[in-house]
Amino acid sequence: MAKLWSGRFSEESSGLLDRFNASIGFDQKLWKYDIKGSKIHAKMLWNIGVLTEEEYQAILKGLDQIAQEIEEDVFVFKISDEDIHMSIETALTARIGDAGKKLHTARSRNDQVALDFRLYVLEHNQILQQKIAALIDVILELALAHTQTIMPGMTHLQHAQPISFGFHLVAWCASFKRDCERLYDSYERNNFLPLGAGAMAGTPYGNDREAMAKELGFKAPTLNAMDTVSERDFALDLLYDISMLLMHISRVAEELVLWSSYEFKFIALSDGYSTGSSIMPQKKNPDVPELLRGKSGRTFGNLMALLSVMKGLPLAYNKDTQEDKEGVFDSVETALISLDILKEVLSTMQIFPQNMLKMAKVGHLTATDLADFLVQKAKLPFREAHHLTGKIVAYADQKGVDISELEEKEILQVACLDISGIKGVLDLKNSMEARDSLGGTASKRVLEQIESLQKWLQRYQGLQNQGHQNNG
Ligand code: ARG
Repeated sequence: MAKLWSGRFSEESSGLLDRFNASIGFDQKLWKYDIKGSKIHAKMLWNIGVLTEEEYQAILKGLDQIAQEIEEDVFVFKISDEDIHMSIETALTARIGDAGKKLHTARSRNDQVALDFRLYVLEHNQILQQKIAALIDVILELALAHTQTIMPGMTHLQHAQPISFGFHLVAWCASFKRDCERLYDSYERNNFLPLGAGAMAGTPYGNDREAMAKELGFKAPTLNAMDTVSERDFALDLLYDISMLLMHISRVAEELVLWSSYEFKFIALSDGYSTGSSIMPQKKNPDVPELLRGKSGRTFGNLMALLSVMKGLPLAYNKDTQEDKEGVFDSVETALISLDILKEVLSTMQIFPQNMLKMAKVGHLTATDLADFLVQKAKLPFREAHHLTGKIVAYADQKGVDISELEEKEILQVACLDISGIKGVLDLKNSMEARDSLGGTASKRVLEQIESLQKWLQRYQGLQNQGHQNNG
């Protein structure tokens, strides 16, 4: 069949060109948005007198029929139709005749694709926000149960100070909260209607863009037609937001890998979310967190790929832009399944507080407390207290014990001091509870953090319901 744009051509396009040029293989994912946009466009055409009532109704009916066929998997996507826009338009005209040929009045595929893709991006932005919120919810529940569970806090992956497991979990939530907010901001920034930009310069038909924006749930129409058909910032925003999210997920995943090793044994992943080895029968491998860690790579790649496609493009639309979709689809699907599976892994894993405590008892975790105590009680300058504590640590190392296991007498001897109360500060729990500055690991502070996140979650879900109820 002749192409919709074939008027000025005298030769058929080659099969090779079709294969190279077509996006239907992947942009068929946009069919729902294409039909939704076409319906609103048709309504606008009817309102401005381009379509009669019957034509408008025929278009609506034809589009519904096509939607049903696609849904039932009986619609045939043909490579010769090039993309989703022409597939649907061609099918419409085949079903309803001449009225179908009027649908593309006052519209270009350039603003059409900008609309479809933006609707996809915004809808998935919201789904991601909801899934992150659900993940935070699960982590907070765990955190609430572990505000007293002592574990070694680490810097440089070396034992540093005693913290609670709950505190560590809340730290994860803090980064996921930012991911959620970042998506929310992107949504707000990009919630504008591209349709009506035409090929690049607007249309001479008086398209009512305000009305279409309202009907499709956008805040308003975009500002400038030329920018509208050429920019893909909305997709890049999503790719960046997802990259950041997956980077955070990869850090959580790395900790799960470490913690489930024999060396740590802080947690055990459930059998349902672990895998075996094909040769070593004893093994239970953390493939899921490893994959979660690895998946971030492709999302960073997708971001880089689209940035590179867009760099240096002259205004306005260029076909290069067709390369925007696959990476976004891939990143979205990667992020969706990663969030789902991480939530499951966390809610089904076993936690071993005794092992955490055991590991907190090695590595002189309360050395800072001792130094602080020497500052307060012996009135030493911190540098001197630090130095002296270092000596006591060396002494304990020589003896092969943790400083918390030393007798007060021995410590005073090494330090050449005469003060009392040292044993109390070397206690892990006291040490953890002592860090009660705002945002610290003391249990009351962790509870505060959990409450604040829970409040944010509620408020956030509320905001999302009223603010972002578009595109549904
Ligand atoms: N398939 C194209 C894309 O994804 C649609 C827009 C094509 N416009 C054009 N003038 N060739 O970008």
